[in-house]
Amino acid sequence: MKIVHVASELFPYMKTGGLADAVASLAGTMADRGHEVAVFLPGYRSALDHPGAKSAERTFRIRIELGSELMSGEVRVFSPRKNLRVHLICRDEYFDRRHPYGNGERDYEDNADRFIFFAKGAIEALRLADLQADVVHAHDWQTSLVPLLLRDAERRHGVTLAMKTVFTIHNIAFQGVFPSRVFPRTNLPEELNNIDGLEYYNQINLLKGGILFADRVTTVSPRYAQEIQTPEFGCGLDGVVQTRAEDIKGLLNGIDTAVWNPAVDALLPARYSSANMAGKAVCRTALLKSQSFDVKFTGPIYGMVCRLAEQKGIDLLLANADFFLNQNCRLIILGSGEKRYEEALQALAARAPQRIALCAKHDETMSHLIEGGSDFFMMPSLFEPCGLNQMYSQAYGTIPLVSRVGGLADTVTDADTDPVNGTGLTFPPTNAGLADGLQRSLLLFADKARLAAVQKRGMERDFSWAQAAAAYEQLYQDSL
Ligand code: ADP
Ligand code: GLC
Repeated sequence: MKIVHVASELFPYMKTGGLADAVASLAGTMADRGHEVAVFLPGYRSALDHPGAKSAERTFRIRIELGSELMSGEVRVFSPRKNLRVHLICRDEYFDRRHPYGNGERDYEDNADRFIFFAKGAIEALRLADLQADVVHAHDWQTSLVPLLLRDAERRHGVTLAMKTVFTIHNIAFQGVFPSRVFPRTNLPEELNNIDGLEYYNQINLLKGGILFADRVTTVSPRYAQEIQTPEFGCGLDGVVQTRAEDIKGLLNGIDTAVWNPAVDALLPARYSSANMAGKAVCRTALLKSQSFDVKFTGPIYGMVCRLAEQKGIDLLLANADFFLNQNCRLIILGSGEKRYEEALQALAARAPQRIALCAKHDETMSHLIEGGSDFFMMPSLFEPCGLNQMYSQAYGTIPLVSRVGGLADTVTDADTDPVNGTGLTFPPTNAGLADGLQRSLLLFADKARLAAVQKRGMERDFSWAQAAAAYEQLYQDSL
């Protein structure tokens, strides 16, 4: 099949979270399975500076209409592996920025224009490169107009650009809601600016377009596919999602086992496997040392790596600050994002600098060290469409301590309720839930035989992309 992905993040060229990993591994796995895969990504500075992108095999110019304005851009094409081509849609005014969406305090003012330009640019590049896609697969609000804009472009040019469109919701909390004056920038027919189209409480909602108009809609775990049809998790779009109830599938992400595998992980100070765990102790020492903590400490180390956002349950963690201040444990958080959380966590760390640390940055190497060196990995998320770190944690023998929501509930089995199959500890997404999970983690840590059994079961689970890729292949086939 000829498969085209359109996404605002792609590892290793631009990443703020799991979207980058998920798109990269889905595209890469499909390429390895013999499909011809193209990924369209905005030409961010970090992508343009990447060694692979510097040796573009092809560049060409595009001209894009945004309302009555005509804007030019450039497409750079390169091939990082067999069967895979990356197309960077470039326009420095829009994408030569360090962060893709905002400055940490607020989103960029011109996000609507930036991502409408990107979606249109991708479609125009698809047309000019004559890719003749079987499936065009778009991800999240930044690209959710692609199914609509694609059919509109086909009509204008009298051509077929793709057989089918697929849209994946990685996170329904981000919807791309803009004032209605943005609508004309899409150049879509006015009849789409109504309740059955993009209109949403007198504004426009780009995500709604993807949900309503793609041939198939997916999300990233079976449980989240159900949750987003309820008011509690639907973020106001549960009714819209329900209209696609027949077509919406929850396909669980996998993990890229070439990147996230402690047996081969070059970013760790030592490698290990379930058969030989010696390397994990080396990682532990390196992790403690990295924070100038006492390297002889033998109690539990709690790790956390996440965007600092409400979704990730930072408020629950802060509400449980006493646990970390009073228990003989260590807490190491790696995260960047909202300033208010950064400040609150910094203040917590300042109360016990020998035991609690916040690394307020994005750091791939450090994220691997935390997975390798911690005993427990915390994800007290309020909601979690899929979540990747709980799967990385199981692979690294680091016991996930997670809320029982979305993909976390689908991938972590509680070791207290299911002692035979348990791979982690799960709890409801509340302050009391996390408090209970933390208490149970102390009991588990004290019982070394049980701890080792839970670790081993997690490490032996198969979270590779093979299953997910087969499910997407089936979905593409069915749609065709
Ligand atoms: P989300 O996509 O909601 O952020 P996921 O669990 O799906 O959550 O994926 C998060 C990904 O981003 C993981 O690969 C995680 O290691 C990575 N990540 C998050 N914050 C950081 C950070 N500060 N430094 C390095 N990696 C990070
Ligand atoms: C989103 C979700 C996360 C998911 C990721 C990849 O960012 O918040 O749960 O794992 O997308 O699909």
